[in-house]
Amino acid sequence: MYRFEDHEAAARSIVKAGGKRHTAVVLGSGMGSLFKGRGISVPYSEIPGFPQPTAPMHRGELIVTDNAYILCGRYHRYEGYSAEELSFYIRSLKLAGVETVILTNAAGAVNPALRPGDIAVITDHINLSGENPLIGENDERFGERFTDMSDAYSPRLRTIAAECAKSCGIDIKEGVYFYMSGPSYETPAEIRAISVLGGDLVGMSTVFECIAARHCGMEVLGLSCVTNMACGVGGASVSSEDVGKTAAEAGEKMYRLLNKLAETV
Ligand code: HPA
Repeated sequence: MYRFEDHEAAARSIVKAGGKRHTAVVLGSGMGSLFKGRGISVPYSEIPGFPQPTAPMHRGELIVTDNAYILCGRYHRYEGYSAEELSFYIRSLKLAGVETVILTNAAGAVNPALRPGDIAVITDHINLSGENPLIGENDERFGERFTDMSDAYSPRLRTIAAECAKSCGIDIKEGVYFYMSGPSYETPAEIRAISVLGGDLVGMSTVFECIAARHCGMEVLGLSCVTNMACGVGGASVSSEDVGKTAAEAGEKMYRLLNKLAETV
């Protein structure tokens, strides 16, 4: 269980290293190198309390650009971090002065209208995992006991994302993100169930960070890079090589969009 003071210590070290920023961008799988060399680099190991990401393609480096904190390396439940642990960096960013969090991820397309290489704005999420970063004693200094999730993914930021995409010449899609813990990919039967339940995209991240961010009053934008058709959709099977490859290919598009967004929000 982290203390409020632990978050304060992390926030102080972030601000000391790079100054304050209003916006933070969390880079998803295959996108971790997008901002390499772009600003002040702070290894996670130098920020007190930041765990070391263990997932492939997640380096563990904070880059401070002119407009944003870029988090190169995120934590996943499947690494063994609890929902609370993997939200530590989100709450620390709030105390560092961040008001807007852009969460990116690699996701499988459950909805056949989405295709590999697409970028989709997350309109909402479904978390039926039974886990939640807010379980346990509530610290009122972050937020209230019960958090409203009706506009979890800010309608205002979704509109801005659509405008930024248009001005970058990107045909942006949208969809509901369904969380699965992984690390095994889903079975075709699970994907059929997710489809019936209303999921358009499926992935192993984002929802806990979104909940923690909403709890402490930050505005959230979610962007999925569609890396593959989900298992069984059109007969597809999934491999992490394909996920990484497609995320890297779509990276240039995501990079343009994120830069535009960081300037705008
Ligand atoms: N399932 C879960 N997570 C993912 C997928 C998928 O198909 N693609 C990228 N991340």
